[in-house]
Amino acid sequence: MATIPKILAFAGSTRVDSYNKKLVKIAAAGAATAGAEVTYIDLRDLPMPLFDEDVEAKEGMHPNALTFKNLLMEHQGLLIASPEYNSSITAVLKNALDWASRPALGEPPLAAFSGKVAAIMSTSPGALGGLRGLVHLRAILSNIGVLVLPGQVAVPKAYEMFKDDGTLKDAKKQQSIEKLAESVATILLKLS
Ligand code: FNR
Repeated sequence: MATIPKILAFAGSTRVDSYNKKLVKIAAAGAATAGAEVTYIDLRDLPMPLFDEDVEAKEGMHPNALTFKNLLMEHQGLLIASPEYNSSITAVLKNALDWASRPALGEPPLAAFSGKVAAIMSTSPGALGGLRGLVHLRAILSNIGVLVLPGQVAVPKAYEMFKDDGTLKDAKKQQSIEKLAESVATILLKLS
């Protein structure tokens, strides 16, 4: 029998009322429906200092960065909803990825990312829904060994898109997020 795939879901925003947190929770539910075991985390719970090689050399990996990296290591799939800040990904997300990319002694490079399967999505108040940030996120993840699914979803006008229960008012967008997340679970099930 195929092993149940484990998928880590998080947003690149620490904002309490983050639209991207809402979006990735929709994806998380979709992946769970498709048979995955999904862990949702909030980067707000794992504050990390700005990565600095000198500090790393002196103090080692920050405990929250290590927790994040270990979570990545324990999961085969990723669901990431990233806000777009000035046409790119947020500093919080890039910083977390940078920390997690650092190898422990004797560990192969990019152990937390290599061979992972990811789906990426975004939402923003703007008309493009954070699409330009996804271009950067896709490039970054691909370059550190993550297989990023070709499909992606950007949801514009975030401020008017969500119902009180966290689902999207636009049924087609809701379905496209769920389908995208389901395909991560399905691919991982096939690979297992
Ligand atoms: C933004 N925002 C934004 N939106 C966008 O569509 N394109 C952009 O380039 C930017 N740039 C940007 C820069 C900075 C510094 C901030 C603080 C914000 C708006 C952003 O999409 C909005 O604040 C979202 O609500 C952020 O996502 P969360 O926190 O709601 O998930």
